[in-house]
Amino acid sequence: MIDKKEATTDLKSGKSSKSTADYAKYFQAPSLKDAKKRGKEDITVHYDFTIPEEMKQIGKGLHYLIRTYGCQMNEHDTETMAGIFEAMGYTATEDTMEADVILFNTCAIREGAEDKVFGELGHMKHLKRNNPNLILGLCGCMSQEEKVVNKVLRSYSEVDMIFGTHNIHRLPVLLRDAMFSKEMVIEVWSKEGDIIENMPKTRTGDIKAWVNIMYGCDKFCTYCIVPYTRGKERSRRPEDVVAEVRELARQGFKEIMVLGQNVNAYGKDFEDRKYGLGDLLDELRKIDIPRIRFTTSHPRDFDDHLIEVLAKGGNLVEQIHLPAQSGSSEVLKKMARKYTREHYMELVRKIKAAIPDVSLSTDIIVGFPGETEEQFQETLSLMKEVEYDSAYTFIYSPREGTPAASMVDNEPDEVKKDRLQRLMAVQNEISLRKNQEMVGKTYELLIEGESRKNPEVLAGRTRTGKLVHVKADKSLIGTLVHVTITEAKTFTTYGELVTKVEV
Ligand code: 5AD
Ligand code: SF4
Repeated sequence: MIDKKEATTDLKSGKSSKSTADYAKYFQAPSLKDAKKRGKEDITVHYDFTIPEEMKQIGKGLHYLIRTYGCQMNEHDTETMAGIFEAMGYTATEDTMEADVILFNTCAIREGAEDKVFGELGHMKHLKRNNPNLILGLCGCMSQEEKVVNKVLRSYSEVDMIFGTHNIHRLPVLLRDAMFSKEMVIEVWSKEGDIIENMPKTRTGDIKAWVNIMYGCDKFCTYCIVPYTRGKERSRRPEDVVAEVRELARQGFKEIMVLGQNVNAYGKDFEDRKYGLGDLLDELRKIDIPRIRFTTSHPRDFDDHLIEVLAKGGNLVEQIHLPAQSGSSEVLKKMARKYTREHYMELVRKIKAAIPDVSLSTDIIVGFPGETEEQFQETLSLMKEVEYDSAYTFIYSPREGTPAASMVDNEPDEVKKDRLQRLMAVQNEISLRKNQEMVGKTYELLIEGESRKNPEVLAGRTRTGKLVHVKADKSLIGTLVHVTITEAKTFTTYGELVTKVEV
């Protein structure tokens, strides 16, 4: 928190000329140089999360609202913050007029994501007039950026608190400070060595659950802000992960999504044992829960042992998200991805040989600084060669403080947009063809709920993650059934119910 004596009371009125430099001891700007100095020491697991006595009932009769942007990691952090709010007596609301605390859990991966948050923040100003006690907070990846905190200090005086991705467990204390202080509360630690266990969680839904196995990323792809906003790689102890998954199985969850920015680096930070993602999945495989997925994989660390374990099947489903980012070895080198197109293709061949029904998906960035038409063509040819089931495609967005942001980038936006369109057209054709190949075949489906567009129809996913719509009784939500696919579109398929699968 800003020392009250130091802080100017006019921070909230927006008249302050203070910048983050004045609060340098509270956080640190992303710095490649500093971040790369990360050591292996200092990882401490804390099991003693508590809520201060005076905060335990503070939310009685009050409401919280969390707006979440970005990846599944953020969604999961939101579940933790929701758990903390509820442990303080707060009730969730979707209505901004009813909310007593509104948090923006933000994403910094591309500029567009940041612009969206600033736009939304601007809309919050009037709420403060209606409810002067409203606490408005910014958290998540954007808060780890110095330029963002400066901008909020300068132009968003309605914000009461900013806290970073390493400060989630401090929410009760920060909230207390924000409630009783006139100044903006800022706590953004760049210290990233710790893992906090035992935080409460309010999960969205009771069919699928996210389970974090590691935090941070040490890969430093040159375009990516994540290693700065999420800190160094640190893995949860396997026994803590196994205990969490066992408990979720006991509660009746049907699917686990194992989460990490780079799950293939799991365990690399353990000093007392040699233990990786393959070992962990081999243990999770024995837990009585129907499906386990994981994301996100980095091709560089995807080892043979992991492939062997995945090939055992069972609850380890045949779906792998394996971001390639580009099909050109030259671009990959500039991205510092630490693999070549050939290495990537070899990995794909190995995976397909070991897991014949595997469904692969990818992330691709077009318009990376200096990307030529020929290099882009290599990406198109990679997509055709791999035949992904789906792809998340992005136009490169410069992120301040990352090495790629200072690379020469002469390609006009129009060219980049055109590349994105061409890339999506190629992928859509492949996705449609693959979905059409499913017609007439029967698949196991986990029914997840009503279709978003038509509540008369239920929606579910196959083991490979394909979306299937099926007419069936709502009592089947949360169960495994068999469906025969009758019709295929690019992003969805339709099926007929065959039987319920016994689990
Ligand atoms: N610009 C565009 N896309 C990016 N990604 C990460 N950083 C950037 C950036 N600066 C994409 C990558 C990553 C996905 C989560 O977001 O493809 O895999
Ligand atoms: Fe970003 Fe690369 Fe780490 Fe993925 S592996 S989070 S793209 S730095």
